[in-house]
Amino acid sequence: MSTRTILEVNMQNITYNFENLKQKLHKNYTEGKTTEEVAIVEERFTHTLGVVETAEKLARMYGADVEKARVAALLHDCAKFYKYNDFVNKYGIKIDEEILQYPKIIHSFIGAYIAKLEYGINDEDILNAIKYHTVAKPEMTLLEEVIYIADQIEPNRGDYINEIRNIIDSAISLHENNQILKVGKKSLDIALIEILRAKIRRVKERDEHVYFLTEKAYEWYIKKAL
Ligand SMILES: [Fe+2]
Repeated sequence: MSTRTILEVNMQNITYNFENLKQKLHKNYTEGKTTEEVAIVEERFTHTLGVVETAEKLARMYGADVEKARVAALLHDCAKFYKYNDFVNKYGIKIDEEILQYPKIIHSFIGAYIAKLEYGINDEDILNAIKYHTVAKPEMTLLEEVIYIADQIEPNRGDYINEIRNIIDSAISLHENNQILKVGKKSLDIALIEILRAKIRRVKERDEHVYFLTEKAYEWYIKKAL
């Protein structure tokens, strides 16, 4: 009989303990912070738990690996509140100059390194789901798609994408009530297109540049849907 507990996940012969990772993330988020900072950090932690919950539901519904989805969701924002320079210097990591021009996406690229080097995650699919969760890319894996969408529609997020959230939520509840056993992948692609469209619009409204992978992802998923 297997000795592993339900909290432990065995992936490619590596065991991740979700509860340990969660405690470590919370400690890293809160340690050495002022009271005001802790309030912001706790808000981010609540968002993270919302992403875990949503990613788990999406993974069940679309047939992605549920445990990988939970771990990737838990660590997707692990680089938030890190002093990037300290981390980059500690491990001698070279961050692409171009990425540094986009402050809002740096945490996802550095997050993949942190997940690997500080949390011991070696699964490439999980690391890439963290890496691309802010920008997306063409032809994402199912896990990458699940994390990208879950980050945008989790219940604690603002309501800029409410329409998509409602479509996915109703599909989830039909699925959970066994009214539909299998959900077509098309609804996931539509959600991706709508989120990408909304994100690109928001970036342009702020007069900022859209990261090239996001533009490419949008074009790729539109073409796929035709
Ligand atoms: Fe997030």
